[in-house]
Amino acid sequence: MFELVATKPFDGQKPGTSGLRKKVTVFQQPHYAENFLQSIFDSLEGFAGKTLVIGGDGRYYNPQIVQIAIRMAAANGFGRVIVGQGGLLSTPAASHLIRKNGAFGGIILSASHNPGGPDGDFGIKYNAGNGGPAPEKITDAIFAKTKTISTYKTLDTQDIDIKKIGNVELANMIVEVVDPVSDYAALMQTLFDFDAIRDLFKSGFKMKFDGMGAITGPYARRIFEDILGAKSMVMNGVPLPDFGGHHPDPNLVHAKELCDLVLASNGPEFGAASDGDGDRNLIIGRNMYVTPSDSLAIIAANAQLAPAYVAGIAGVARSMPTSCAADLVAKKLGVPSFETPTGWKFFGNLLDAGMATVCGEESFGTGSNHVREKDGVWAVLMWLNILAKRRESVETIVKSHWREYGRNFYTRHDYEEVDLARANDLMGNLRKSLGGFAGKNGIKTADDFSYRDPVDNSFTECQGIRLVYENGSRIIYRLSGTGTAGATLRVYIEKYEADVIKHNVETQVALADLIGQANSIAAIQANTGRTAPTVIT
Ligand code: G1P
Ligand code: ZN
Repeated sequence: MFELVATKPFDGQKPGTSGLRKKVTVFQQPHYAENFLQSIFDSLEGFAGKTLVIGGDGRYYNPQIVQIAIRMAAANGFGRVIVGQGGLLSTPAASHLIRKNGAFGGIILSASHNPGGPDGDFGIKYNAGNGGPAPEKITDAIFAKTKTISTYKTLDTQDIDIKKIGNVELANMIVEVVDPVSDYAALMQTLFDFDAIRDLFKSGFKMKFDGMGAITGPYARRIFEDILGAKSMVMNGVPLPDFGGHHPDPNLVHAKELCDLVLASNGPEFGAASDGDGDRNLIIGRNMYVTPSDSLAIIAANAQLAPAYVAGIAGVARSMPTSCAADLVAKKLGVPSFETPTGWKFFGNLLDAGMATVCGEESFGTGSNHVREKDGVWAVLMWLNILAKRRESVETIVKSHWREYGRNFYTRHDYEEVDLARANDLMGNLRKSLGGFAGKNGIKTADDFSYRDPVDNSFTECQGIRLVYENGSRIIYRLSGTGTAGATLRVYIEKYEADVIKHNVETQVALADLIGQANSIAAIQANTGRTAPTVIT
């Protein structure tokens, strides 16, 4: 039954910010997924007889790869696979299952917020035993293996029935099919004050949640509607292979339907959305969009309202491009704040070491030490917990936060599918000019961000060009590590404003000067041929 299949390496199987992400058509090449999975297994040691968690966000090609991964796990010697029913698991739920079951690791099938369907994207990532994305030393090893692979191990068997909950035997391995939501929902009940949230809904508080045709629909239905008693508040709640044509990225552009509903003056009090695999979140209130950077700061400042964090938080971590709003909260709380490179994997060590409790990224990612991934539904529940305890509107909570700490105006401009060579030139030119920026036009320092991990001392460099102004304003440039076509240039712009009188200005207006400077410093128009960003968040 065991098979050793001959294969040849594929170019470019380098894990990016979050695993290997390519077009579905690339993954459909014979042996492509198998090569990558075998390279993962070949980079790991000591998993014989141990448990592997497998699941994905339900996108097109998920069912096929789940079967391949299960067979290969058995052939490679795992003793047990835990798989979400139908092959489904949100990324944070997979992280929780790894931790809860003491699994050796997990394979998560997702291209996160990238579109799905036959012409869309697919992805595979490996999470380690702490439940978090594999650290760079493992992803580097995986990439090295993909370049020399010559065989992979699999089984010659029929597809395994993963539609029913229960155990199935496969060669020497047990396949345990579990409900994708139950364990995760139970975890959430230990973290938050569900009674208070139930009372909030009973009082007539209205909320809309957009599942964006992706994985979180079933999680939202069970938790918000069945357990917490919110009435028919889930939209686009059925996970579909092409996400119903949605681009499942919860931001003002792609979650427009939800935003139009909630941002209206007669809309529901609260709106939220999550992405393809359930790790991102969008938080909006009536008349008030909460930037992810502000959301992180507000969560850090109010975490004690939730039972799991009542004793206080140990520290806050944010990715470098995320606004500095959370640092101000950490300072006031007297706890450390950490600035890491982009990508959740850099938070893992801080969380494992108990140095940080709450983490976040400007890219709609927020989470805590309850799992080792960012967690969309967690962030929504945290907001509900805060709203239930404070009984104030989202707008009031945000504005009073600004009053107390000052406002960090913040925007990100993305230029998608730019010609790769031109994007590399733009970044190369900025790197070459780095020495000349400081001391001119109000710029205090200019560098290419690098990070020394305080726990394992590992060093990561070239993480983005950072211009920091005398007054604390910042312009940051980096290229995306998750795109699958050409290059995506991300420009992050931030300005701090202490004066309450100036807090109610529209963000793009408040940042107009800095945006102009960001464009001219990098000669974005000349270098990309674009006159405007593709997406502004
Ligand atoms: C993007 C975000 C980053 C996030 C990652 C995975 O990566 O910017 O914060 O961790 O997606 O969700 P990027 O494409 O910028 O490399
Ligand atoms: Zn995601």
